[in-house]
Amino acid sequence: MAAALSPIDRAKYSAARRAVDLVEDGMRVGLGTGSTAAWMVRLLGEAVREAGLRIQGVPTSARTAELARAAGLPLTTLDEARWLDLTIDGADEFDLELHLIKGGGGALLHEKIVATASDRMVVIADLAKEVRRLGAFPLPVEVVPFGWQTTKALIEETLVSLDVLGRDVMLRMNGAQPFRSDEGNLILDLHLNRIGNPRQLSLVLNQIPGVVENGLFVDICDTVVIGHGDGRVEVRDIATGRVEEERIDIDAADNIFRDLGE
Ligand code: 5RP
Repeated sequence: MAAALSPIDRAKYSAARRAVDLVEDGMRVGLGTGSTAAWMVRLLGEAVREAGLRIQGVPTSARTAELARAAGLPLTTLDEARWLDLTIDGADEFDLELHLIKGGGGALLHEKIVATASDRMVVIADLAKEVRRLGAFPLPVEVVPFGWQTTKALIEETLVSLDVLGRDVMLRMNGAQPFRSDEGNLILDLHLNRIGNPRQLSLVLNQIPGVVENGLFVDICDTVVIGHGDGRVEVRDIATGRVEEERIDIDAADNIFRDLGE
């Protein structure tokens, strides 16, 4: 069954599998959003159901909460937990310093709050997410609906003086309607092509009235687990500078694929 998965799904599965090994009994764990994080949630659910792992999860979106409940993961809120041991999440891009672009799934606000409230943030990704410079992926910025067109104009004006290559700002749509985040906010996608200074851009964007948060994660990610289609995983840690390579047995994934009815 595992063989029937696309190489990209096998890569996502492998990264998630390796990251789940970092979860220890008793931990409070931030649960990311997206297709790679969904593998991690399913695998954690399996560990809870079949190996008796005792953890509490804090989901970063309504979608992840639903998936986690279906997988049998005990959940709590960030207000209850206050501080987390570990967050595992996907990313849209990561660079050599492990700065990230996130928010492709529109959950960047809760994702950033949860990751920042964690001792450790581990990103799980396939190799396609690695870039030398951030910015090919449009940068999501969450804005309040009130006066959003003014906020958009202010962002466009601000971008003129910053080290970016493109300046198109698009309102994210969900069919015919504007996309709404779990907080009911709008998302503007900034097509910048290249971000010269992520730290500066992040600080400047968050100064603009109407901006709630942006999808740049600077100095938040500690470790990235990169999955490959053949089950190889590479674990890079920013603090130690260590890079480890391992191989995941993808055939051992058959249980979880059977659970998914695939
Ligand atoms: C959601 C995110 C996701 O982590 C990001 O979009 C990556 O998703 P995927 O694993 O499906 O590629 O930031 O807001």
